[in-house]
Amino acid sequence: MSAVLIIGASSSIGGALAKYYLQQGLTVIWLSRNSPDFSESKLLQIKAPDLTEPDEWALHQAFFSSVIDTVQQHQVGLIFNCIGWLHQDGELRLSPEKSLSQSSGALLRKTLLVNLEVPVIYLQGLWPYLTKTPGIRYLQLSAKVGSISDNQLGGWYSYRSAKAALNQWIKTASIELKRSNKTAALVTLHPGTTDSALSAPFQRNLPVGQLQSPAQTAEHLAKVALQLQGEQSGLLLNWDGRVLSF
Ligand SMILES: NC(=O)c1ccc[n+]([C@@H]2O[C@H](COP(=O)([O-])OP(=O)(O)OC[C@H]3O[C@@H](n4cnc5c(N)ncnc54)[C@H](OP(=O)(O)O)[C@@H]3O)[C@@H](O)[C@H]2O)c1
Repeated sequence: MSAVLIIGASSSIGGALAKYYLQQGLTVIWLSRNSPDFSESKLLQIKAPDLTEPDEWALHQAFFSSVIDTVQQHQVGLIFNCIGWLHQDGELRLSPEKSLSQSSGALLRKTLLVNLEVPVIYLQGLWPYLTKTPGIRYLQLSAKVGSISDNQLGGWYSYRSAKAALNQWIKTASIELKRSNKTAALVTLHPGTTDSALSAPFQRNLPVGQLQSPAQTAEHLAKVALQLQGEQSGLLLNWDGRVLSF
């Protein structure tokens, strides 16, 4: 493998992954709505369109054809999708629910849009590359709180549900992918609690040692990617490589 594609590369985790792979001497394709704040000869940038308008997904075909041309040209063997959303400040303040009474259409729609619909548009757009590239690895960042069997604490209705649906979607797509590309691996991945804008308001009561820096998380996720086998396709994996239950 000579190159890595990072979707949502401006995220804390995505940016740290980009730096990690650049340090390893690989070419990194940075796909994001935002530019990197550093430059490197092996860092290529693709500007992401805003996929949040209520469009038909097919309208983005030209964009995905050009992304596929680029990943083919650079022989990308590894793809991370780091897009996700949990809360926002500002005029329309949205925060994960502590109780059912705090659920709202605005919160549910936004959470599903960014954590499910946008990742699925990318998966569908890159599908022609995934089905034809031997040994391709696609790691979709998800969250352990999306595990239904692991839900002990309750709360966070919208985010939990969006990540559970994302896990189901990736599992289902992994079955379809196996039919055309037996050596591919498509998984969901819990990165572990990582210091970022997404986790910032929820870091106060964490057990000591649980919060990882983005650089630590990037190292862990790169190790999982390196050890990932085709037979593991469809699984939800933890940052340390353990299999998590759905
Ligand atoms: N941090 C944690 O503790 C933690 C724990 C469990 C799971 N995760 C998951 O890991 C992934 C990365 O998390 P992070 O903490 O690194 O996140 P982050 O720094 O907050 O970045 C979130 C990413 O999502 C993108 N995004 C947000 N809204 C978008 C939209 N409407 N359209 C397209 N892209 C959009 C952002 O792009 P822009 O910069 O362009 O807005 C950014 O790249 C997420 O899927 C998250 O759910 C994180």
